[in-house]
Amino acid sequence: MKTQYFTATSLDGFIATEDDSLEWLFPLGDVNDTGYPAFIAQVGALAMGATTYEWILRHADKGAQLTGSAWPYTQPAWVFTHRELPRVERADVRFVHGGVEGVHAKMVEAAGNRNIWVVGGGDLAGQFHDAGLLDEAIIQLASVTLGTGKQLFPRRVTSPPWQLLSVRQIGSGFAELHYRLPGNRNKSAA
Ligand SMILES: NC(=O)c1ccc[n+]([C@@H]2O[C@H](COP(=O)([O-])OP(=O)(O)OC[C@H]3O[C@@H](n4cnc5c(N)ncnc54)[C@H](OP(=O)(O)O)[C@@H]3O)[C@@H](O)[C@H]2O)c1
Repeated sequence: MKTQYFTATSLDGFIATEDDSLEWLFPLGDVNDTGYPAFIAQVGALAMGATTYEWILRHADKGAQLTGSAWPYTQPAWVFTHRELPRVERADVRFVHGGVEGVHAKMVEAAGNRNIWVVGGGDLAGQFHDAGLLDEAIIQLASVTLGTGKQLFPRRVTSPPWQLLSVRQIGSGFAELHYRLPGNRNKSAA
């Protein structure tokens, strides 16, 4: 069981524009050509921040076209927020706030022997990292720059650096980078 941050980012390190648009991302390739289908099949629980949750709600129509459901996940999802957010019918969503450690313990229990996906944003992934709970990052590096936006990972990690496990080209739109994060609790995760 691993805790993984799986996301797409621009070359200059932004996962969304400042106004939370992902329109730059979708023309770059088909998600089914990336590692996502194999990745999501191994996910037993997921966590996201309020802005990411609100993005999914705003794009429920698109989600329904792709997956047949307004809520794209069958796994239990923990949404970090200080606010009362709308619920999606039949979605297994638990709203939480504060430290990630207690939530992570519940996610581990729910995930069984499957992995935990930290969907984003970058600071929430950073909170899991700060707590020593992030094992890996799987980054779809998109062939665009945004100039400004929501940061991939607003932390300074220099020593030890992340360990690059693999690189895969996905057409001309993406390079998929798979990293192990040293200093995490589960150092032997591979
Ligand atoms: N490129 C990709 O593949 C990809 C992947 C994931 C997300 N995204 C996009 O990237 C953007 C990310 O937005 P973001 O950087 O603002 O991050 P976010 O994590 O989605 O949302 C941040 C918000 O989550 C809440 N939050 C975070 N940690 C919390 C904690 N410990 N306790 C309680 N609440 C907490 C706070 O909201 P409140 O205090 O307001 O409740 C905070 O302002 C979104 O537009 C999303 O759609 C892109």
